[in-house]
Amino acid sequence: MLKVREMTPEDIEEVFRINQENFTTDAWSRFAFEKEFENKFSKKFVLELNGKVVGYIVYWVVRGEATIMTFAIDKEHQNKGYGEFLLRESLKKIDAKRILLDVRKTNLRAINLYRKLGFRLVSERKSYYSDGENALFMELSR
Ligand SMILES: CC(C)(COP(=O)(O)OP(=O)(O)OC[C@H]1O[C@@H](n2cnc3c(N)ncnc32)[C@H](O)[C@@H]1OP(=O)(O)O)[C@@H](O)C(=O)NCCC(=O)NCCS
Repeated sequence: MLKVREMTPEDIEEVFRINQENFTTDAWSRFAFEKEFENKFSKKFVLELNGKVVGYIVYWVVRGEATIMTFAIDKEHQNKGYGEFLLRESLKKIDAKRILLDVRKTNLRAINLYRKLGFRLVSERKSYYSDGENALFMELSR
């Protein structure tokens, strides 16, 4: 059974592992995830499959505007519709009229998913990432 619920500090180990396996230069430290629990703007969710965490998403929501800070699905469970499910379900749980995000220009999987949910390109940010890659800055208005 698939379920989206709020992230708790007990989820950090699994969330940190999923983040590490999916990101290299942009990976978050364990400490960064811990700090999210002291940030009043942070809204974060995990996707559970039969009680096991298989994905997570972190938003910062400030005055009706949300930014996706980090989002990933366990490698073993990618391309099964889980990313789309987590994104759609978590979007229902946050109070924001505008959702923003940056995504690597070459990350076509993620870009396709965002487009599928109605995100549109706002601009391209040059050398946004530490390795020099450009970002696509995208937004969803609702
Ligand atoms: C991006 C990510 C969250 C998507 O989750 P997922 O569970 O793998 O994706 P889904 O199976 O839900 O696919 C949903 C949509 O994404 C797109 N997509 C998924 N896999 C794709 C692929 N291999 N090629 C192109 N588009 C793809 C499609 O639009 C797909 O919809 P469709 O099946 O109707 O074509 C996941 O692949 C991931 O964790 N990637 C690494 C981390 C990352 O890039 N995070 C986002 C950073 S901004």
